[in-house]
Amino acid sequence: MKFDVLTLFPEMFESLNESVLGRAIEKDLIDINLINIRDFSKDKHKKVDDTPYGGGAGMVMRPDVVYDAYKSVYKPNARVIYMTPQGKKLDQQKVESLSKEQHLIILCGHYEGIDQRVIDEINPEEISIGDYVLTGGELPAMVLIDSVSRYVEGVLNEESTSEESFSTGLLEYPQYTRPEVFENREVPEVLKSGHHENIRKWRRAESLKNTYNKRPELLKDVELSDEDKKLLNDMN
Ligand code: ADE
Repeated sequence: MKFDVLTLFPEMFESLNESVLGRAIEKDLIDINLINIRDFSKDKHKKVDDTPYGGGAGMVMRPDVVYDAYKSVYKPNARVIYMTPQGKKLDQQKVESLSKEQHLIILCGHYEGIDQRVIDEINPEEISIGDYVLTGGELPAMVLIDSVSRYVEGVLNEESTSEESFSTGLLEYPQYTRPEVFENREVPEVLKSGHHENIRKWRRAESLKNTYNKRPELLKDVELSDEDKKLLNDMN
């Protein structure tokens, strides 16, 4: 999977070279290509922004500079995304859908935003990571790249994504490791039993309990078995 990221601050993306994504890059499972929009400035001072028509605070990114940066990576099959708080909110369903693509182009705004004419010309899919405003699209782009890369084949082992929070529609069950006793708190007995069916049932019940207690609104979209329904009834 190829990510072309159009940004004024490519150095911000260095943290993606760590851990799981770092290994995925090394193994050529994902390719993160950073394009510095400033390289497309037309001006000897490398200016990329100007004051807004109509007045007001801050600076606006010039359409011609952003467009030339975009054209340098554009391919007909690429899915083009603009990170903006005005976009549709990113969720696990969108993440999975994006992970099926071969090529994403991600445009990051900064300052007061980008001249509307280049947004209209490119017509990107607008995506937000939540109802709050950040100083730029770089952190949101990193959130998108991280969450999408996890679904690219080979980046994680299969089970990691099939049982985690949201993939079943439910929140995940709690996890335990050594030591067996920590501050007088013991690992649940069933997890040490080696009885796979009982462990599966316990985990399903804990997932349901977690979701019921923390995010009850998620339950309406989950397919519940008779056993699930009985467990939920007992919690009421
Ligand atoms: N740029 C600034 N804030 C943002 C947000 N919440 N989501 C996506 N892009 C943004």
